Amino acid sequence: MTFDFATTPDRRHTASLKWDKYAGRDIIPLWVADMDFTSPEAVQKALHVRVDHGVMGYTLPPDSLVEAVQAYLQRHFAWTIEPEWLVWLPGLVTGLNVACRAVGSPGDDVITATPVYPPFLTAPSHSGRRLVRVPMAVDRDRWQWDLDRLEAAAGPRTRLLMLCSPHNPVGRVFSREELEELVDWSVRHDVIICSDEIHCDLVLDPDRRHIPTATLGPAARDRTITLMAPSKTFNLPGLGCAFAVIAPPELRRRFRQSMAGIVPGVNLLGFAASEAAYRHGWDWHAALLDVLRGNRDRVQTAVDAMPGLTTWPVEATYLAWIDARAAGIENPAVVFEEGGVGLSYGMDFGLPGFVRLNFGCAPALLEKALGRMSTALGKRSGAPTA
Ligand SMILES: Cc1ncc(COP(=O)(O)O)c(C=O)c1O
Repeated sequence: MTFDFATTPDRRHTASLKWDKYAGRDIIPLWVADMDFTSPEAVQKALHVRVDHGVMGYTLPPDSLVEAVQAYLQRHFAWTIEPEWLVWLPGLVTGLNVACRAVGSPGDDVITATPVYPPFLTAPSHSGRRLVRVPMAVDRDRWQWDLDRLEAAAGPRTRLLMLCSPHNPVGRVFSREELEELVDWSVRHDVIICSDEIHCDLVLDPDRRHIPTATLGPAARDRTITLMAPSKTFNLPGLGCAFAVIAPPELRRRFRQSMAGIVPGVNLLGFAASEAAYRHGWDWHAALLDVLRGNRDRVQTAVDAMPGLTTWPVEATYLAWIDARAAGIENPAVVFEEGGVGLSYGMDFGLPGFVRLNFGCAPALLEKALGRMSTALGKRSGAPTA
């Protein structure tokens, strides 16, 4: 079967968050993490069937979806879970905030590594927790957790570690050893781990494998809240369907209690789409990964050729993290917007001077955007552009 990842669907006038930000302006939006691709055909068909039924009543998570998720976790990660470990959520960000509420008390510390997806930085304060940032260590090849800084950050009120794995925005797939070190730390300090694994199916390096934190052994299983969703994998973020996997009954009870009366159930279209995706979306997904690998390589080559910019190998995600500090630009996102490309602002992730580029789009659109970035930089330096 062939899939069309070369066409850019017209998303203008569809109330798209990504495209409407720049409505009426000639700016290519490569910011928020959704892709400019239509969902797998099986998903579209399942949605048609559900809509054609015509009755849109209150809904439960279908048993057949629970079975599909169990089969998916088993097949992809050799992870055997019980149906009752699943807690359905209308989004991962909801899960990050619920985790902060469910663990510890107001005034306690929540640790995360920066840079990181912005809701990690805001969730703790929403429930009166204190955010403790541990800057990641970086060299030319990769970003990683800084274990010395992590050790120094642990205090008597540290209750929760928020882990992004694979990591947005730095694109890392953490190795078993790296994850084990984090679990060892959390055992030593009696800390719960909230592991956001929304990008787990977007590993681009063939020699890397995503390992769910909770599968690292009984100690990890008994202290981990795993957050997952089909939304990045199959490009369904507008349907609002995600889930937490929480093995320990008491932790799960606290998580559910923190949701009570506030967090709505998942809507019936989200359930229908998710089941179709997990059951029938994998050929589409394999073709997607090929396109993303090509786009990733193109971004790496093009950015390497732009003076003053540095980027790192993207092991997973469709997001490239770019350091523009050597270009001497105070706010690079603004410069690129003026040049016709909308990127995410590094400061929102905790690091000014950086930008994040979403390459989940048709290769031709990406090429146009990279050309505009090069021109924007060239104009500033007065150098000829590629
Ligand atoms: C690491 C991470 N977590 C959560 C989300 C958002 O999840 P949701 O749309 O389900 O709230 C994103 C979206 O970009 C993400 O990158």
